[in-house]
Formats: sequence, C-alpha cells, structure tokens
Amino acid sequence: MIHCICNNINTRAVEAAAAKGAESAACVQRACGTRFRCGQCRTDIDDRLQSWRRTRPLLDAAE
Ligand code: FES
Repeated sequence: MIHCICNNINTRAVEAAAAKGAESAACVQRACGTRFRCGQCRTDIDDRLQSWRRTRPLLDAAE
C-alpha cells in the first residue's frame, strides 16, 4: 500500500524505517531520503507506525 503518493513511500518502507527507529512520519520521510511536499500522508504514516509498534511484540514472540 502506498502511504505517501508524492514520494512513493509504501508500507514496506514505513516498516523498514520503523525497524530502524523512526518514531514519526517526519522520521520516515528522512529515512527514505525525502521530505513532505503536500503533507497529506502525515497522519496515515503515523497511524501505520503506531500499528507497527502494537503488533511488533506479537510478531517477535511468534518467531
Ligand atoms: S502524500 Fe506525502 S508529502 Fe504528499
């Protein structure tokens, strides 16, 4: 799923940034070497980061 249309940032990129410690949409943009243009993705990326943080302990436990 594409979260940022302006910079073509998808779920995989958001999760990769989260795994490296990104804690906000701005951090994800920096991790991807991009910056906000329209900013419409900020909430969506933040929501995806929260979801990733909630499910990560479950995924770690399953491994
Ligand atoms: S959709 Fe991300 S900056 Fe425009």
